[in-house]
Amino acid sequence: MKKDIDWKNLGFGYIQTDYRFISNYKNGKWENGELSKDATVTISECAGVLQYAQTCFEGLKAYTTVDNKVVCFRPDLNADRMIQSCERLEMPIFPKDNFIDAVKDTIKANIDYVPPYGTGATLYIRPYMFGSNPVIGVKPATEYQFRILTTPVGPYFKGTTKAITLRVPDFDRAAPLGTGHVKAGLNYAMSLHAIVDAHNQGYDENLYLDSATRTKIEETGGANIIFITQDNKVVTPKSKSILPSITRRSLMFVAEKYLNLEVEEREILYTEIKDFKECALCGTAAVLSPVGKIVNHGDEVSYNYANGIGEITAQLYNTLTGIQMGRIEAPDGWIYEIL
Ligand code: PLP
Ligand code: COI
Repeated sequence: MKKDIDWKNLGFGYIQTDYRFISNYKNGKWENGELSKDATVTISECAGVLQYAQTCFEGLKAYTTVDNKVVCFRPDLNADRMIQSCERLEMPIFPKDNFIDAVKDTIKANIDYVPPYGTGATLYIRPYMFGSNPVIGVKPATEYQFRILTTPVGPYFKGTTKAITLRVPDFDRAAPLGTGHVKAGLNYAMSLHAIVDAHNQGYDENLYLDSATRTKIEETGGANIIFITQDNKVVTPKSKSILPSITRRSLMFVAEKYLNLEVEEREILYTEIKDFKECALCGTAAVLSPVGKIVNHGDEVSYNYANGIGEITAQLYNTLTGIQMGRIEAPDGWIYEIL
């Protein structure tokens, strides 16, 4: 039986669900892992994650489709990206097939928390890994824990009835040869001051520029960005220091193959953003959130939409969510059926 949750009014927050997946890494190998009812973690006071932030994570969602199945979206790409994060952070790789199986098992165990179709809510799935044994000299841990938690969520930018406002902060997100392209916890730790400051000043998110020249658009704290040109081309930044968003890769495919739009991944100068007619943030949590304004100190660029969202952005949104919710046929291999 579905849990008694006010699905339609969920924000993007943590609600403890019944089961989580846990596997420990010790003596050079992963144990099989199991589902557990225990929502707490017990580790050494000197664990690598606590001292030197050795942790990375993933994010994906499970959906109830129009014909009442439960599915998840492209978990194979999250498995691949977590492998890349682990390689960059000197952490052991959690094998791809085991990752996908563990995601499926965790969703199945928490099936009563998967929001019903039509509520606008989804089950957010958070795989993560951290160094768990004591480390005091700066070096990688030798023992790790891989876990998957789930939580039902609503929109990431809730309470914003209109397109969101971004500001260009006086902080950098990622160094050119740093960790911006992987999903390391440290990327988010260093963004916390910038996001608190942005919220205090009335902005919804930070739009980071490339830290080497501060002339090119990168991404926001928790999502990639896309722009639509006056002649309906979908343009998105090319950069080695942004997270390769699975939502963005999917949207670019949808734009080209489903909507017959031209797409372009290229460097985008800050000075160009005034020439576009639409802008939106994309990510698992953000889905596709329209951007109405970008503020860079004294400079402001606005995008005006008749219905709160750009016309092309709306087509992209409807097609992607249509595929995720089973209303539109998905490309091969995108949808993993759970139940
Ligand atoms: N960029 C950052 C910094 C993120 O945290 C996320 C969220 O996962 C994304 C982009 C979007 O990636 P994806 O579409 O794979 O969720
Ligand atoms: C996601 O979209 O899955 C993320 O990890 C973004 C995070 C800021 C919630």
